[in-house]
Amino acid sequence: MTSTDLSTATSAATTERLTFPEGFLWGTATASYQIEGAAAEDGRTPSIWDTFSHTPGKVAGGDTGDVALDHYHRFAEDVGLMATLGLQAYRFSTAWPRIVPDGAGAANRAGLDFYSRLVDRLLDAGITPVVTLYHWDLPQVLQDKGGWTNRDTAEQFADYAALTAAALGDRVTRWTTLNEPWCSAFLGYGAGVHAPGRTSGAEALAAAHHLLLGHGLATQALRAAVPAAQLSITINPAAVRPATPSAADIAAVRKVEGLQNRLWLEPLFRGRYPDDVRAFTAGVSDWSHVHDGDLAIISTPIDVLGVNYYSPMIVASYDGIGERARVDGHGDGAGETWPGCEDVQFLDVPGPKTAMGWPIDAGGLADLLVALYRDYGTPLTITENGAAFADTVDEDGRIRDSARIAYLRDHLTAAHAAIAAGVDLRGYFLWTLMDNFEWAYGYAKRFGITYVDFETQVRTLKDSAAFYADTVRHNGVAR
Ligand code: FCB
Repeated sequence: MTSTDLSTATSAATTERLTFPEGFLWGTATASYQIEGAAAEDGRTPSIWDTFSHTPGKVAGGDTGDVALDHYHRFAEDVGLMATLGLQAYRFSTAWPRIVPDGAGAANRAGLDFYSRLVDRLLDAGITPVVTLYHWDLPQVLQDKGGWTNRDTAEQFADYAALTAAALGDRVTRWTTLNEPWCSAFLGYGAGVHAPGRTSGAEALAAAHHLLLGHGLATQALRAAVPAAQLSITINPAAVRPATPSAADIAAVRKVEGLQNRLWLEPLFRGRYPDDVRAFTAGVSDWSHVHDGDLAIISTPIDVLGVNYYSPMIVASYDGIGERARVDGHGDGAGETWPGCEDVQFLDVPGPKTAMGWPIDAGGLADLLVALYRDYGTPLTITENGAAFADTVDEDGRIRDSARIAYLRDHLTAAHAAIAAGVDLRGYFLWTLMDNFEWAYGYAKRFGITYVDFETQVRTLKDSAAFYADTVRHNGVAR
């Protein structure tokens, strides 16, 4: 699709639109390991995802991020795509093993230079860079010393944050420490379906704490390096509903959202861990990883909370028949994804599903935003939202991804409803700019608004890209 097609795709002036507040920020999101490739170039060392994806049986099709979208070499073209769409902001992540190849110690100039060139290109195109410092690619050398179960990793993360801010902070004012630490901790160290593939509930809880500590230390480092920066963390809180209003099902909800929501939100915003979560995980961990003073660091103020939302879940107390608490979302795991939740089960959410098998239910997004704002009063940004579908290229070369357009329209409508209900929502970042390496699913799941031919690296805008460009241009979603 050309830019001419994009502008003629603009809806007529009479189209009914839900308009967003002035200054609402529209962008797309990506992550380093999912797009960059160039895994061994210019001094980058392996991350835990290189090790994991090269371990037979861990990733569908044996896919790896060795080449991915070759974004490392094609970033100018990819910024060009965003410019064509009129996007205002771009959320990307920096790869720790590219910037600090030894995990700790000196920065690698070539690694920093790559991100510096990317930032310059974005700014030239009028696109605001939004940097996430950790989207799951921990240097393998640090995993060899225990990774996030080792307290030292938190300090090393803050050092890496400081080095990155020193290099980019003159041009980047929006910084996010971690992406979805729940996934890092519980899918990576509990379920074993994400790198580093560990399967221990105790390790998952220790990792969760050290991730939070790393966030707090990095927030302090970023504040010192870039005083005017807007600082955040991105979490993936669950929109979780009880199967019935029974006390037992409500208790099941409380456990699941305890681990996925309050385990992060309470330390971040209230400087404490939830007592009930500590109590129901007491058989798994003694929580001795929490030291005096840690919670004060973790609750260092941030400016905005990033929220990633894909689908809601329904839980119930375990009836002895159904599926016990399992890995939700990113694959099946033999490990311990939900420590202390043996009496909880997940039920099917009725209705349509995406190609991931994730239920499509935009109501969960509105509910979640309203609840988060009510409970914590922090400004919010949707830092990821989108859907995978089995896209096909039609004979005329077009990708008519109408299901994705419907998903986006419904979720943007839900976001608008949350704003109308009083939520201070500042922006929306669509996941994702281009089809990419979808973690344990490899290249089999396409989330992009740009179709990528992984053999030729040719990028083609899908119909959803035109829909999104139109939304951004009008600061409003057509109904
Ligand atoms: C989120 C991840 C992102 C992508 C989407 C589909 O959990 O942050 O990298 O995999 O899911």
